[in-house]
Amino acid sequence: MDAPEPQAVLTPLTEAAIFLVLTVKDGAEDAIRDALSDVSGLKRSVGFRIPEVELTCVAGIGSELWDRLFGAPRPARLHPFPGFRGNRHSAPATPGDLLFHIRAHHFDLCFELAQRLTDRLGAGAEVVDEVHGFRSFDERDLLGFVDGTENPDGGAAFDAVVVGPEDPGFAGGSYVVVQKYLHDLGAWDALPVEAQERAIGRTKLSDIEFADEDKPPNSHLALNTIVDEGGTQHQIMRFNMPFGEVGKREFGTYFIGYAKNPDVIEQMLTNMFIGRPPGTSDRILDFSRAVTGNLFFVPSAEFLDDPPGFAAAEPASDERGEPDAASPDDGSLGIGGLRQG
Ligand code: HEM
Repeated sequence: MDAPEPQAVLTPLTEAAIFLVLTVKDGAEDAIRDALSDVSGLKRSVGFRIPEVELTCVAGIGSELWDRLFGAPRPARLHPFPGFRGNRHSAPATPGDLLFHIRAHHFDLCFELAQRLTDRLGAGAEVVDEVHGFRSFDERDLLGFVDGTENPDGGAAFDAVVVGPEDPGFAGGSYVVVQKYLHDLGAWDALPVEAQERAIGRTKLSDIEFADEDKPPNSHLALNTIVDEGGTQHQIMRFNMPFGEVGKREFGTYFIGYAKNPDVIEQMLTNMFIGRPPGTSDRILDFSRAVTGNLFFVPSAEFLDDPPGFAAAEPASDERGEPDAASPDDGSLGIGGLRQG
């Protein structure tokens, strides 16, 4: 059997994106399950007429909604976003059952699809966060640094984000974490460029990575390099976008990271918010506040087109005397767990 096709997770960076996070009302489960099967059709209706704009849409489903829509089986590593609390900074977990990550070269198509999707979902789903992201110059965030350079490429990108045989029932899927960050640009811009570069671990204008020995332990790059005990580096794909409202003096980065194993992203967040070692929290957090946080599972394209109905969970595995499918020991990094400093 062919491997299931992933949703359009690995879309190259675009000029525009809309990030929609929604909650689903009790009783609306049947309507939402039905609407999810229309997502790819709506994407085709809006995008087919202007193919060069390369409209894509990725739909993600949160842990609690998964249980309400589909019951069992469930993706092995799906759980609610835990939130992270360090001595100085915290990453809250906020409400969210569904994510739509809509991307295109032109904003109008993103907007049209967002409108059609929310119409189709109807009154059973409420948008609790909506962010309109834009590309800023040469892929810079509003801190002024090029953002996305070290994303894996080609086969390495696929390997980093697409679930494979470690969870065969959900192969072709992916996990995604989103967080909305607001920057204190006044304080950031008051730093000399050299201090900003030390906070990130790269040069600002030319985007050159510092040598490892020159990266301060609290720099963003030092804390976000994840290498396991066997020496293997674990990567994620990020498609961050700037957003803001100048009238409100709101300047933000919408962080969106995909991985085949959410432990990798959660280890990065542990390092950023608590520190590695604890106490060395990420210097960019002194200028960036996380105001939302969610984890979703992105099922394969075919799952989304034809979602199964609800099925009650089988008796707990220990009653059957079999290994627990929800906590496979293959693929585990042995790096998670520490969430509070
Ligand atoms: C305020 C929010 C954030 C901003 C402005 C930001 C910005 C940046 C920039 C400028 C870089 C260097 C260039 C690049 O490789 O992309 C970078 C790298 C990176 N960031 Fe972030 N980031 C943010 C949040 C996060 C979060 C929350 C995570 C993980 C949970 C993360 C993970 C990474 C990773 C893995 C790298 C590449 C490290 C490497 O291999 O060199 N970032 N980020």
